[in-house]
Amino acid sequence: MSEWRIPLSDLDYGVEEEAAVLRVLRSKWLSMGPEVQAFEQEFAGYLGVKHALAVSNGTAALHLSYLALGLKSGDEVIQPAINFVAAANMTVAVGATPVSVDILNLSEPTIDPSEIERRISPQTKAVVVMHYGGYFCRMAEISSLCQKHNLALIEDACHAVGARYRNPDEPSSNGRFSGALGDLACFSFFSNKNLVTGEGGMITTNRDDLAERVRLLRSHGMTTLTWDRHRGHASSYDVILNGYNYRLDELRAALGRVQLQKLEPNNRIRRDLVAEYRRNLADLPTGWILPFKDYKGDSAYHLMTAVAPDEEVRRNVVQSLKNRGIQTSLHYPCLSDFEAFGHFQIDQLEQSRSFARLTITLPLFSTMRTDQVAEVCTVMRTAASEKSVRRQLAPQQN
Ligand SMILES: Cc1ncc(COP(=O)(O)O)c(C=O)c1O
Repeated sequence: MSEWRIPLSDLDYGVEEEAAVLRVLRSKWLSMGPEVQAFEQEFAGYLGVKHALAVSNGTAALHLSYLALGLKSGDEVIQPAINFVAAANMTVAVGATPVSVDILNLSEPTIDPSEIERRISPQTKAVVVMHYGGYFCRMAEISSLCQKHNLALIEDACHAVGARYRNPDEPSSNGRFSGALGDLACFSFFSNKNLVTGEGGMITTNRDDLAERVRLLRSHGMTTLTWDRHRGHASSYDVILNGYNYRLDELRAALGRVQLQKLEPNNRIRRDLVAEYRRNLADLPTGWILPFKDYKGDSAYHLMTAVAPDEEVRRNVVQSLKNRGIQTSLHYPCLSDFEAFGHFQIDQLEQSRSFARLTITLPLFSTMRTDQVAEVCTVMRTAASEKSVRRQLAPQQN
């Protein structure tokens, strides 16, 4: 499908996914049935959480999480300035105010705990963290801040499916998965993610009260599903909350179950590809940064990013890669630079702004070959050093 010789991401889909979809088609039951139920159980079992609720996408997961927590007009939700816009858009959707705070730095582009603390106000009700590229935020500090100030903690875990967090104070423990670290966690199974169903998402929580509210809000606040009535488990329903239709269908749930089986081996392949990138890019000219270089935990290795020394170098490298049919991207522009969010801005967000100007997302997917990684790196190294040679020569020429 792709016109790129080396695309940014690609699917690991095969006969297993085809068989899963066919099985559902032949069953003639297409929404919220046994596949969704099994997907939820398997996902919760894998992450070691009490509840997993399948939803139509990651944005719906965020929306339902905020609604389940009762976030509303007048509330403030602290969140990173570097994130996909969904977390902030859904904050606005429930009438609350997104408070964007800076990332730590260009090497660790996750939300800065001291900036969270600085921006806590009487209106603050929740903190959203996003494990950028599959690498954890500083969860020990952030969790204790949330406990101290009685704030809800939501993981935007869309990059981090399968990432395992080890508390630095308990180095010998097996750790906990992303999805089990806050009050609620939100996953996306969009086509470029580590676990793909096309559209699709999941909410995980260990709290029974929140799970029950999400379950109701996901399907119009109705007390029973069509599936329950079909099985004779119920014959009528009441509507006890004003809810939505954020349900997942059986086809996607069946795809999700197959993809969940592939997740661990595919995340290991991603880990090895990232190691290959790091080896190949070790001699980039000074000024380049490869984020999370000294990271110790088990990332989900969702993204491979590099931060250029300046915008001109970035442009040059991106163009050289494009000329060779290699796709790149930017994760993400700084939230407060979007027109719809400018009026929420209070802080300068210096680190986030620099990161948004200088970072490049490179191709990374579990079916990528090491020779493709080597090619990306060769083009990048050449373009990066051409530029730095020219820059060194420039003063002498003047
Ligand atoms: C970090 C992050 N948050 C939220 C979302 C929203 O998920 P979806 O596209 O499934 O609505 C995405 C997916 O693109 C994401 O990457």
